[in-house]
Amino acid sequence: MILNGKAIADTILDEVARKVQTFSRSPGLAFVLVGEHAPSFTYVNMKAKACLRTGIRSRIVRLPTLITEKELLGEIEKLNLDPHIDGILVQMPLPPQIDARKVIFSIDPEKDVDGFHPVNQGKLFYSDPSGFVPCTPLGITLLVEKSGLSWESKHVVIVGRSTIVGKPLANLLMQKRYNATVTVCHTATENLSRHTKAADIVVACSGIPHLIQRGMVSPRSVVVDVGISRREGKLCGDADFESLVNHVAAISPVPGGVGPMTIACLMQNTIKKQGMP
Ligand code: GUN
Repeated sequence: MILNGKAIADTILDEVARKVQTFSRSPGLAFVLVGEHAPSFTYVNMKAKACLRTGIRSRIVRLPTLITEKELLGEIEKLNLDPHIDGILVQMPLPPQIDARKVIFSIDPEKDVDGFHPVNQGKLFYSDPSGFVPCTPLGITLLVEKSGLSWESKHVVIVGRSTIVGKPLANLLMQKRYNATVTVCHTATENLSRHTKAADIVVACSGIPHLIQRGMVSPRSVVVDVGISRREGKLCGDADFESLVNHVAAISPVPGGVGPMTIACLMQNTIKKQGMP
């Protein structure tokens, strides 16, 4: 089975659009885009297109590469105070003179639709549903569930320990709501194959193209591919899709798998506070 993230994301976007129509004012999402990092332009454009489709007002705040940290923090404070802005997303990566942590810490946790602020990470840690869950981990959980599969009592091996994906996903899947048994592998893991072979579900989020090969996973496993790399002008994931697609029980493609789910969950997060009774 191929996990069709694009189709599932479309149904989520339709649902968000329906909810937005019932609100007394349309939600606003601000994208802060610093510098000239080409993939960031692509990602922000894709996210802004999803806003257009769902009736969320989007604002792109473009800032120069050489902006100082103080100036950037000033821009975020303006957005924190702006009553028309419900969500603030600072696209990563940031230029080297900027301390990304300081920037994330400065976002109002109530507008932190990325779920990166320590208040929201803490709420995730405590299974407090009032917080924002980071979009990619949330998207991964929905991709699997809405494909008719389950996390319940599954052995999930996460390959990658990033702050954006690996760590929050491990946290989320340990919640009673999901009840998974979680192993997190990373660059210092010895014998990666030993772990991935034992997995019911492998989540590949290392950023290393084609790291997960056919010989590394069991034929009954599900492979969720979070990676997006460019190789010879083509997008490719952290899993070798061609060699795996006829070998495993299910796999998500790149593109068309986790990517659209991340964007759909960003829209869901943006209306979360307004969507609550
Ligand atoms: N850069 C790569 N992924 C993400 C993400 O999910 N959010 C933000 N803000 N930046 C990113």
